[in-house]
Amino acid sequence: MDNQSSVFDCFVVELPQVHNIAGNITAIENGMNIPFTVKRIYYLYDVPGGQERGAHAHKILHQYIVAASGSFDITLDDGLNRKTVTLNHPNKALYLVPGIWRELSNFSSGAICLVLASEKYDELDYIREYDKFLRLKS
Ligand code: TYD
Repeated sequence: MDNQSSVFDCFVVELPQVHNIAGNITAIENGMNIPFTVKRIYYLYDVPGGQERGAHAHKILHQYIVAASGSFDITLDDGLNRKTVTLNHPNKALYLVPGIWRELSNFSSGAICLVLASEKYDELDYIREYDKFLRLKS
């Protein structure tokens, strides 16, 4: 795991929008406007009110997280610093680097959390125990 990464390496990116009175389009293309190659896309939806997700870190995974609909909060933790980001518009993505503990909360009704990921699903890339995360970061 990247034990040097900090919450300050994670930031909200404004995505391009093609405006039209009939609706907007946002496109994300490998090699164009994302700092890693996308190998997997998944999305989280039908999250019951009050439910929290995440509570893990990744060893090598980079992610772009987008509120494709609705809103939610993402709390980032690098073992030293914490910050909370609210995503509430589909033209914004949170760039999340490896080695960051994250918790997702405050999902609005109908929220869709779209994730573009640099790797295919691999349970071995997860750190799911916060104590272990802190040990690896120190
Ligand atoms: P997880 O990433 O722990 O969800 P969250 O962080 O949103 O709470 O994933 C929950 C389960 O879903 C995981 O145990 C396996 C499955 N899963 C896949 O099969 N493929 C995937 O790409 C993802 C993200 C999860």
